[in-house]
Amino acid sequence: MSIPRGAAIGRPEVQIAPSLLSCDFARIGEELRSIETEGADWHHVDVMDGHFVPNLTLGPPLVAAMKKVASRPLDVHLMISDPAAYADDFVQAGADVLTFHWEATGPRRCGEVIERFREAGVSEVGIAINPDTRVEVLEPFLGQVDLVLVMSVYPGFGGQSFLPEVLPKVRWLREQGFAGHVEMDGGIGLSTLPACVEAGANVLVAGSAIFGTEDRRATIAALRAAASAAAHA
Ligand code: DX5
Ligand code: ZN
Repeated sequence: MSIPRGAAIGRPEVQIAPSLLSCDFARIGEELRSIETEGADWHHVDVMDGHFVPNLTLGPPLVAAMKKVASRPLDVHLMISDPAAYADDFVQAGADVLTFHWEATGPRRCGEVIERFREAGVSEVGIAINPDTRVEVLEPFLGQVDLVLVMSVYPGFGGQSFLPEVLPKVRWLREQGFAGHVEMDGGIGLSTLPACVEAGANVLVAGSAIFGTEDRRATIAALRAAASAAAHA
């Protein structure tokens, strides 16, 4: 599946990515189908190993099950200690975007993991940083990745409060001329999304803000309208 790329000039198109961590896992197929008709652009899939973060979620078999019903890209966010070891499994399961954490590799293994993901054949390679990691550590790798994920909460759980102090990282990435996707994840809703887009983010993950509402279609439409207003502000 091809993912719309950004124009050479300006920022890539806004993508609203509901985090399935907040969906009803007993009805995962239905949830995927309905959130697509309600306006999701990407499906954000949170993988946690109980080691890199103090929570456990899902692995390749569930991603493969999601892939059977998804017609939108699967944006797989690996919060795991050994991303290289599982790259093939997640790509074969159907990950379209595969993102690992810089904190899991450090500067020494980062380039190697990007290579491993490329060899595994994923469409888009992403790298994520935690709120307390300086964005400048990514400088040597910006030419090698398609997406940077700036975490706006400490990873591990949905429903946390947005940390506005990470916004300058997004601005810095765009100032460096990074033209790929800049994703933000954690505590994003109607009140926090505009600042993310103004700073330069184009992929907006929202879990509780979307799955916690009665009218998910209206919520996604409102998030998209807010993103578009902020992008043109
Ligand atoms: C947190 C996850 C997020 C989380 C977002 O570790 O990476 O994707 O599900 O949930 P909300 O939008 O509720 O903060
Ligand atoms: Zn996530």
